[in-house]
Amino acid sequence: MRAIGQADLQTRVARLSLEQKVRLLTGADFWALFPEPVAGLRRIVTSDGPAGVRGETWDERDTSANIPSPTALAATWDCDRVAAIGRLLAAEARRKGVDVLLAPTVNLHRTPYGGRHFECFSEDPLLTARIGVAYVRGLQDQGVGATVKHFVCNDSETERMSVDVRIDERTLRELYLAPFEAIVLEAGAWAVMAAYNGVNGSTMTESPLLRAILHDEWGYDGLVMSDWTATRATEAAARAALDLAMPGPAERFGPWGDALLEAVRAGQVDEALIDDKVLRILRLAARVGGLDGASPICPEPVDISRQLRATAAASFVLVRNERSLLPLDRSGLGRVALIGPNAEMARTLGGGSATVYPPYSVSPLDGLRAARLDVTFAPGTIGHLRTAAARAPWLLRPDRSGPGADVRFFSPSGEAVGSEQRDAAVFRWMNGFAAIGAPEQVDRLEVSCLIQATEAGTYQLGVTGIGRFRLLTDEAVLFDETLTVRKGADVGETLMAPPVRLAPLALAAGQSVTVRLEHDVHTSPMAAFGTFFQLLLEPPHGTDDEEMEAAAALAAGSDVAVVVVGTTAEVESEGFDRTTLALPGRQDELVRKVAAANPRTVVVVNSGAPVLLPWADQVAAVLLTWFGGQEFGNALADVLLGEAEPGGRLPTTWSASEDGLPLAQPDDGVLTYTEGLFIGYRAFDRDGREPLFPFGYGRGYTTWSYDSITVDCDGANPSGGAGVAVCVEVRNTGSRPGREVVQVYASRPDSAVERPVRWLAGFAAVDADPGEAVTVGILLPERAFQHWADGGWTLEAGTFALAAGSSSASLPLTGGVTLK
Ligand code: BGC
Repeated sequence: MRAIGQADLQTRVARLSLEQKVRLLTGADFWALFPEPVAGLRRIVTSDGPAGVRGETWDERDTSANIPSPTALAATWDCDRVAAIGRLLAAEARRKGVDVLLAPTVNLHRTPYGGRHFECFSEDPLLTARIGVAYVRGLQDQGVGATVKHFVCNDSETERMSVDVRIDERTLRELYLAPFEAIVLEAGAWAVMAAYNGVNGSTMTESPLLRAILHDEWGYDGLVMSDWTATRATEAAARAALDLAMPGPAERFGPWGDALLEAVRAGQVDEALIDDKVLRILRLAARVGGLDGASPICPEPVDISRQLRATAAASFVLVRNERSLLPLDRSGLGRVALIGPNAEMARTLGGGSATVYPPYSVSPLDGLRAARLDVTFAPGTIGHLRTAAARAPWLLRPDRSGPGADVRFFSPSGEAVGSEQRDAAVFRWMNGFAAIGAPEQVDRLEVSCLIQATEAGTYQLGVTGIGRFRLLTDEAVLFDETLTVRKGADVGETLMAPPVRLAPLALAAGQSVTVRLEHDVHTSPMAAFGTFFQLLLEPPHGTDDEEMEAAAALAAGSDVAVVVVGTTAEVESEGFDRTTLALPGRQDELVRKVAAANPRTVVVVNSGAPVLLPWADQVAAVLLTWFGGQEFGNALADVLLGEAEPGGRLPTTWSASEDGLPLAQPDDGVLTYTEGLFIGYRAFDRDGREPLFPFGYGRGYTTWSYDSITVDCDGANPSGGAGVAVCVEVRNTGSRPGREVVQVYASRPDSAVERPVRWLAGFAAVDADPGEAVTVGILLPERAFQHWADGGWTLEAGTFALAAGSSSASLPLTGGVTLK
């Protein structure tokens, strides 16, 4: 690509009138920026996000590769693998006409209650930074922009639009800003997203931190865009280093557009500030190939399924494996009882703006069947789940041509203005109804389909959404109601967990009924954002007690029981925090019943974030699998059968209880990070508390000895970067090839400043065959030994202790380094 220099960009800015410049500073629509032919700028498209590249539409018609959740990516502790995921996302972005990805999310796991925990990497700033740098490099090397978000301290969701986070400078620097800093300085991120919340009294789109830190300290030359609708003030946001207000247009979402034009004309905002913002937009466009004279890089083709399957397996964390139950020996393996609702319904991603529609999702049941195991499935418990959208084999288009529904759109005068044939019953129109050529005219829509019973019984048919819905079967009205959202609910909650209205429908086996769902678009208070609802259908099932008994009986008569427990995208989501870490519903009881029926019970935990596992020491094996992306079930089969190593190590501490965890609930609009530096393992270590599973932990299928550590060794620092080079020798002492994540922690027992007991200073992954010894070099960066004091980074001269091992709680090798 021909590089477009600063002078060229400035010339282009100079060609524009003030009106043309200001117009560029707010989105043209929900996802795209305005084109400006005078500057040679084409339309630049942004898109979420952390689970895959959604594109401009948000439904089953335009599918996206669904990668494992960011917690899973961090659990690989494998920067090369994550960089490859960045390249995969770049290829996806180009395929879908996307220039700038709204990811990665590098807020920290301050508390496991955080609704978007699954969407962030880790509780540790160094691990978050390393994974984030790799991700952004992979993406941007292929010519697609990353948007590092949400700057800063958007670590939980409650009152996220207004909460003021109060945090001391040292904690802000050493924990929450650290990943942004590394990604901006090392990977050269092209965009940063300013968060909804405030920090120490300023909302982030107006915060002095934008200019003082991003521009002045870090020399950031990229673009700062607002989170969606986070720009609140015309002048204050313009004077801060915010460059782009999203979404647009300004007439609908404000607050720039004409108001900003007036403010510049009145001399309240300097035109030079506007020029700088436009320059940054043009620079981003040049980088993604959106300015004439710059051509986009053509990303390398990738084998998506293979890569996602291997990455998911590499992220699974084996935390318990009594009597080496895993891997299962395929030869002689009899019936496998597969239990739990998450086993049948693939839960591959968390909720909110990070959701995408994968082309397919492999559930654990699909994956184990594809591995040709003799599998029998029982749901075990159902009561805690939100009813799922109607789907095959029950849902049919009116002409029976396939699964799905027909949608018709009507104008206020009742005239039909468009129609769509859909393959599914999940509906989301985010950018108005422009695609059907009637942006402002749609007043009402109608969904028509057939529901066909596979067995006799009572089905539950209904809708989830907001506004007025009328549901009819065979022309008889089942209900006609206006569904309202909880007062004060966030847009994320409204998107992920809107109200549900169900009605019973008794059907004979094979019977089909026509269904019509009517919705008055403007009765939804969310109409400005879009229209979204789902037609729901729950087939007949037993009570939880009956299902649980059936599952235990199945387990008792099987060779091995695999129970898949977990959460869903509606439990872990943007827009709200969790109020409990317990598994929803009666899943704990289910695990205990199954384990009592069959000692060979493996529990697979399918959640994006930690959940309580009160039965952990009563089952033979526990495998934590996160939200595993579209290849989840295949990866699970690979790991259960030993065809792949469970390569993951915990990127976050897994607590045994809810005691002593930071809360996400603001007090009178203020959330004070009173715990300071002590989040995650730093808090457990300080208090001498034992978590259920410590940070960094994970077992794999082989065993390792830690044989030696050498500080200041040769060869550990090929890049010549500043820091301390450490070499650690490990040996695979088991009988299988394996992968180990060697972790090095620093500490300073005699420090004059308050510090964590230990903190992660570096890590590296190694592969070794049985009996093989490997020496791995790890560079501990200078920053790992510095702390923030009196407005700057400082080194406390003296001796730092170093310890190497397989987790923050198992560090057999020790050494030290004296620094001046
Ligand atoms: C989220 C962002 C997201 C944006 C656009 C916001 O609600 O906080 O992470 O990128 O929406 O979907």
